[in-house]
Amino acid sequence: MNPQASSCAGRAATENRLESDRRIRLLLLAVSGACAYGLSLLTPAASGPATWIAPVFSTVVLPLILSVILPEAMRRNRLLALFYLTWMGNFAFTLLLLKIAPRFSFGAGSYLIPPAMAALVLTTLVGARAGILLVVLLGMSELFLLRPDDRYLIATLTTGLFAVLFSRHIHRRSDLLRAGAGIGVVALLATVLPAGLNFTLTRELIVAEAISAAAVGLLGAIVVGALLPLLESAFDRTTDLSWLELSSQDHPILRRLAVEAPGTYLHSILVGHLTEAAASATQQANPRACRAMALYHDIGKLEKPEYFTENFNPSDPDPHASLAPTMSALIILAHVKDGVALAREHRLPRRVREAIREHHGTGLVWFFYQRALQQEKDARTGGKILRLRDEDIPGVDESSFRYSGPIPQSPETALLSLADAVESASRALEKPHPGDAHKLVDKIFQDREKEGHWASCGLTPTEWTKARHALTKALENILRPRIRYPQDRRAKPKTHPPLEQSATPPPAEPRILPSKG
Ligand SMILES: [Fe+2]
Ligand SMILES: [Fe+2]
Repeated sequence: MNPQASSCAGRAATENRLESDRRIRLLLLAVSGACAYGLSLLTPAASGPATWIAPVFSTVVLPLILSVILPEAMRRNRLLALFYLTWMGNFAFTLLLLKIAPRFSFGAGSYLIPPAMAALVLTTLVGARAGILLVVLLGMSELFLLRPDDRYLIATLTTGLFAVLFSRHIHRRSDLLRAGAGIGVVALLATVLPAGLNFTLTRELIVAEAISAAAVGLLGAIVVGALLPLLESAFDRTTDLSWLELSSQDHPILRRLAVEAPGTYLHSILVGHLTEAAASATQQANPRACRAMALYHDIGKLEKPEYFTENFNPSDPDPHASLAPTMSALIILAHVKDGVALAREHRLPRRVREAIREHHGTGLVWFFYQRALQQEKDARTGGKILRLRDEDIPGVDESSFRYSGPIPQSPETALLSLADAVESASRALEKPHPGDAHKLVDKIFQDREKEGHWASCGLTPTEWTKARHALTKALENILRPRIRYPQDRRAKPKTHPPLEQSATPPPAEPRILPSKG
């Protein structure tokens, strides 16, 4: 194992402990209560019950709501901090805007844009549920503490919910500008339309509103675009924008992989393709995340690339031939911890590190375990001839051949794990036949299901069925150039020259070699 790997593992354990530490969570909630109290004192509702309702809501009621709607926030302290910061920061900003509002004679729609931008940020970083919850919270807190105006509430909710809708389609930087312009248009309509029902708007006012809403919308999108990378790093989130950047194959670690371990590089690209196809068929898994995770899942092999089958040079001797099975297994197992250490060194996101850690789960390095068992059996047979006692021959410890896990904890890492095993095993299909891909995917899925490998990933049986079907299709497309179809006996021999290829009947079961990576 890489010497850095053990120190990295220690650092990771500390980070995980801090991330889920209850005392830190309680401290966060206490600080939020103090901030809610302070902010409520600055609002027009300061003389009412708001000064005690706001802190109680923030420290008691909201955590209960979050534990139902966004349970991850109650497990990850940084996500909890992000949610409260977005909510209270935005409320404070709106409060400030309203304090200076009398200086402006136009731009009412612009006030709707900061909450919408906050929803955009939170949806991009966390997801639509977090965005919708934030919009409702901002609308209600502004209604009770800042403006008891139901028209303003409806306009805030409308613009915010549209922002959530727009941000679900942000995959590139340019999508941010489009979303900003869209939010500007919705803010304008949400302001002008209800006002237009009650009084006649002048053309100048409409033009002023349109310009201010569009300008603030675009400006907001630019600010969000600049802030997102900082927020991703500070709060340990990964957006689609980052997944696409990570998939560009321009990352130094991928360039190194292409040169030093070309077999692993090709394997990673194929696994990325298979995982992305499987994820696209599900509701829960993010296909872009899957592809990026797959590209990096085996970077730990860079430490000793020559020991992994996909990098073997057929003309060179097998590097495992001179090694004891336990030593071979040790090298194979180490690629997970080495990969996590390399990912940390290159500051790859947490979710990529999780993919590296979980892609083999607690699986067995089957090939070398079997070799060790055979050697033990041979030793016992030889020991009998030499009259050795059974206890003098060391037994095989299965745990020395198992990955340390954990099993896949998310839909993405589960699909990656399946695609990884399927791609590795498909390389052993020397003469693939139609139907082999289906058998292979099914067999690997069922074998692992019996071991409880998929128990924590959260995918439903329906999603698994769709994902396996999509994975099979994608694998068939990869195998297609190699697939040998049975001979069409009605065809004339002249039109099908390589007849001897189809003379061999298809195997009942594809031959599956052990996956070493
Ligand atoms: Fe792999
Ligand atoms: Fe691997």
